[in-house]
Amino acid sequence: MNIITIIGARPQFIKSSVLSRFIHENKSFGINEVVIHTGQHYDKNMYDVFFKEMNIPMPEVDLKIKSGNHGKSTGLMIGQIEDEIIKRKPDAVLVYGDTNSTLAGALAASKLHIPIAHVEAGLRSFMMIMPEEQNRRLTDHLSTWLFCPNRNALDNLRHEGIVDHNEANIKPSSDNKSVSISGDIMYDASLYYRTKNPFHTDEKDFFLLTIHRAENTDNEKNLISICNAINELSSYKFIFPVHPRTMKIIKDKKISLSHHIKMINPVGYFEMMALELACNAILTDSGGIQKEAYFYKKPCVTLRESTEWVELVEEGWNILSGADTEKIINAVKNLSIPSKYPSLYGDGNCAKYICDILTK
Ligand code: UD1
Ligand code: UDP
Repeated sequence: MNIITIIGARPQFIKSSVLSRFIHENKSFGINEVVIHTGQHYDKNMYDVFFKEMNIPMPEVDLKIKSGNHGKSTGLMIGQIEDEIIKRKPDAVLVYGDTNSTLAGALAASKLHIPIAHVEAGLRSFMMIMPEEQNRRLTDHLSTWLFCPNRNALDNLRHEGIVDHNEANIKPSSDNKSVSISGDIMYDASLYYRTKNPFHTDEKDFFLLTIHRAENTDNEKNLISICNAINELSSYKFIFPVHPRTMKIIKDKKISLSHHIKMINPVGYFEMMALELACNAILTDSGGIQKEAYFYKKPCVTLRESTEWVELVEEGWNILSGADTEKIINAVKNLSIPSKYPSLYGDGNCAKYICDILTK
């Protein structure tokens, strides 16, 4: 089976490393993978570092389409991915998550009638204003194999009429879709790399902070409101690896952050894991980092109004504060670690499961 994998953004380098390694180490599946990087993320510490650290080859193809306006960069990606698909004639195109690169890969493949495998299918924030929600909904509806990280994601698909072909008697579907729970590929990554992480941090007694989502960066009011909260929490120490998008706005708008907030450049996955393991708690608007907080048993305050990872909120490990200054401060001051720690994201065999289903 020949597959093309489309990646473009930081979390996709981490997710794809797991499956690429599995395919490489398990030749008996007979999967040949070509990895195409759209170019969406391109800085050394947003791109190269991940391949070096994880010791996997750089993508065969780099389309070098840097992130820009959504329509323009997604359109450019579609055109060039289409050329690659025509040239390479894959049996399937595999995409991850919900970025513009995900949607571009799905649209290019679908127009050429190449079946799509979507890893991290079925997640919903129910906020169509988010670019990620648009990307993931469209990708799910175009996909043939939908790999859901958990039951909640599968149920979201069911509500949209996307069901496995074996269940067609429950809800008729004209498409021959394979919809199933694979577990979460980032959970696989956390288990695999934790034992291999050469990094250690001497930082102690701190909170880890990340901010990059459009709703908190394009919206200056939200970013200021979050920064006000962190500034007020001056009896705590924060470490803040700053996404380039956020850094640009902090500089442009001259937003000041106090000395108890240590701003650093984006770090590699290993260093991030070391920080996540060492911190007291995490404040973030990232999707992946909310889960990593749980993997490493750290309480999390999510700087958004909603989350796709609802089970974390239901289990008490995640508090949604939005960008509201008072809510953030209250959430931080009232953090606690729940006693229950259920298994929410599978058994760490997501990559094998995906290969089994694809080659069935
Ligand atoms: C993208 C995804 C988001 C994901 C995030 C992971 C979309 C719509 N958004 O958001 O879902 O959570 O990646 O990090 O696909 N930039 C650089 N250097 C880089 C990359 C980005 O300077 O290597 C700056 C550029 O100014 C760029 C801006 O960041 O315009 C935004 O990048 P973009 O990829 O559009 O969005 P992200 O916020 O990274
Ligand atoms: N990450 C990293 N370095 C950083 C920030 C994040 O390696 O400086 C990792 C993080 O551990 C997680 C992934 O990037 O595995 C999450 O990516 P991000 O927050 O950019 O995107 P999202 O998950 O929100 O799409």
